[in-house]
Amino acid sequence: MKGKSTQIISSGYSGQSSSLERYNSINPPIYNASTVLFNDYAELKAVGQGQYDGFTYGTDGSPTQQAFEKALTELEGGYWTKAFPSGLLAITSTLQAFLHTGDHLLICNSVYGPVRRFARNVLDKFGVKTSYFPADAGADIEDYVTPETRFILLEAPGSNTFEIQDIPAVVKVARKHGILTAIDNTWATPLFFSPFAYGVDISIHSVTKYISGHSDVLLGSVTVNEACYKRFHRLCRALEIFASQDACYLALRGLKTLSIRLKQHEASALELASWLEGEAAVEAVLHPALASHPEHAIWQRDFKGSSGIFSFVLQPEYDEDAVARFVNKLELFAIGYSWGGFKSLITAGQFAQSDISRYKDRWMIRLNVGLEDVADLKADVQKALGVL
Ligand SMILES: Cc1ncc(COP(=O)(O)O)c(C=O)c1O
Repeated sequence: MKGKSTQIISSGYSGQSSSLERYNSINPPIYNASTVLFNDYAELKAVGQGQYDGFTYGTDGSPTQQAFEKALTELEGGYWTKAFPSGLLAITSTLQAFLHTGDHLLICNSVYGPVRRFARNVLDKFGVKTSYFPADAGADIEDYVTPETRFILLEAPGSNTFEIQDIPAVVKVARKHGILTAIDNTWATPLFFSPFAYGVDISIHSVTKYISGHSDVLLGSVTVNEACYKRFHRLCRALEIFASQDACYLALRGLKTLSIRLKQHEASALELASWLEGEAAVEAVLHPALASHPEHAIWQRDFKGSSGIFSFVLQPEYDEDAVARFVNKLELFAIGYSWGGFKSLITAGQFAQSDISRYKDRWMIRLNVGLEDVADLKADVQKALGVL
């Protein structure tokens, strides 16, 4: 008879997964593990010799993570996907994978703000120079290319100011100069824009947003084409990148309802955006699906839909106090960062990042339109406009 402590350690689950494999749940199980077991010494030896193709340790990820990565590879039409603990880590790791000392990096000036911080505080230290190009760039991006330029990071549309790059034109210039291109595809999701079909090499998502969809997950993803796979895989191995199994499970779950959620976000946001265009206090609404948007024709040509986040610019006479009064009056739009979730959210600020922007130093309000009834959302905004 073994002692109680020994019995406890081997009780319930032996580490030889037989009954679990026969439990055919419709969703993948969540495997939380640091240690994964080998069946015998021969398997252990194969690991040491680099000849084992199974999981060797928790940092290899898990079947849950692989299921999520496989789903994104298929949806994006890429070659290989890696899940990251956040969208920002997905972006910064991609830059680390492809840039070397002496290289020059081009980023669109509407980029998600913390990417600038990474370029300034980390890439610069390693001798990678970064410059920013206008967020509405097309073939004119060639003016910003130097003999050292190796990588172009796009974000279309920008998540505060919503400019769209002419992606085929940028890709053409990039290919001519042997430069890699990556896009932050979070706004469009794999449903509304297909980067690989347009020749982009790498597609990045903050899965935190629409894909997970419920504001309870932080997760990122990077999908690469075949040509980029080796270099990217090498970095992921070196950093032992892995993502939370719970996050991958929830993201996969969110993915199942992405298309119906997105349709509702799209319809409600468009209704609010079109209505706001006619309001006296509003100078402009920044939403690519509106005919008034400067890159509307490009959006129409390349994108299959629009999601539920957009901004509007108040008339010049409104100052920060007016913005504060408007924001505080809202009841259904909660004040908070991020987007893509079920709840309507609001942020406000002077978002325009470049001197050439028409809206530099102007007050903007960004709405993340959630899944509430649109009539209620409209009434809420209408009431708040009243305080202006
Ligand atoms: C466009 C865009 N990309 C990336 C990120 C970063 O994503 P995460 O919050 O998952 O780090 C954000 C976050 O707001 C974003 O808006």
